[in-house]
Amino acid sequence: MVTYVEAQSRSKRAPGVIPLHGEEGFAGMRRAGQMTARALDMLTQHVRPGVTTGELDRLAFEFGRDHGAIPATLFYRGYRHSICTSINHVVCHGIPGERVLREGDIVNIDLTYVVDGWHGDSSRMYGVGEIPRKAERLIHIAYECLEKGIEAAVPGNTTGDIGAAIQSHAESQRTAVVRNFVGHGLGRLFHDEPNIMHFGTPGAGPELKPGMIFTIEPMINLGRPHVKVLSDGWTAVTRDRSLSAQCEHSIGITETGNEVFTTSPAGLFNLTSPDTK
Ligand code: MF3
Ligand code: CO
Ligand code: CO
Repeated sequence: MVTYVEAQSRSKRAPGVIPLHGEEGFAGMRRAGQMTARALDMLTQHVRPGVTTGELDRLAFEFGRDHGAIPATLFYRGYRHSICTSINHVVCHGIPGERVLREGDIVNIDLTYVVDGWHGDSSRMYGVGEIPRKAERLIHIAYECLEKGIEAAVPGNTTGDIGAAIQSHAESQRTAVVRNFVGHGLGRLFHDEPNIMHFGTPGAGPELKPGMIFTIEPMINLGRPHVKVLSDGWTAVTRDRSLSAQCEHSIGITETGNEVFTTSPAGLFNLTSPDTK
């Protein structure tokens, strides 16, 4: 039961107008989101000491190739890889390559597949072998922040309610929210309106309406919130070199709440599973 006009391309819309998607969009997002989630599930068994981030990138590319999915980041603004691999103090946009994963590392893998033109964007944290207790705790908090954000993403609330829920949880645990990167609308476009800040004031920002589709992807630091981008132009790291963790889902606002498109079909990406405990 959906009565919304399908989203127009961004160029045909006035700036600041948030597209409302209909049943076709939700169905497309379900397919793309589930393909992304399956690949992130598949990668779990490959994240072990000795593997390079480049090998994980190849696996993500090949899984997509075999299932009719194209990585959205390939050739996106000069980026040349299928995933981002952000290790330890890397906040986001780490570039896969020769780096070998070592026991005790934590790594975020961020993947967006395009399936039939729709974008499924999700990222998870993976521990390499046994990880330090403080890293486990940080991952747990980042995942809880994503959950608090999703709980606040209901019609009648605003984007500010999402940010405020995330910020208050992160800061109650004496961790910091990164301000420099935001969640984003998506659909047929990779990055669209609205911006979803992971901090803010309850009631601020645009009201959430059924048919809106966007990501929530908080980056949480053990130390200070400040980041810098390395000379490769992509890799964002914590300025104080403290550990950082991120979790991301693509969701759609429904009449009664929301639908998460990128839920793990294997049940791997949730608070009770070992990889996020
Ligand atoms: N998937 C990232 C996001 O969550 C975007 C990565 S863009 C890249 O929005 F070019 F760095 F890959
Ligand atoms: Co992403
Ligand atoms: Co995203």
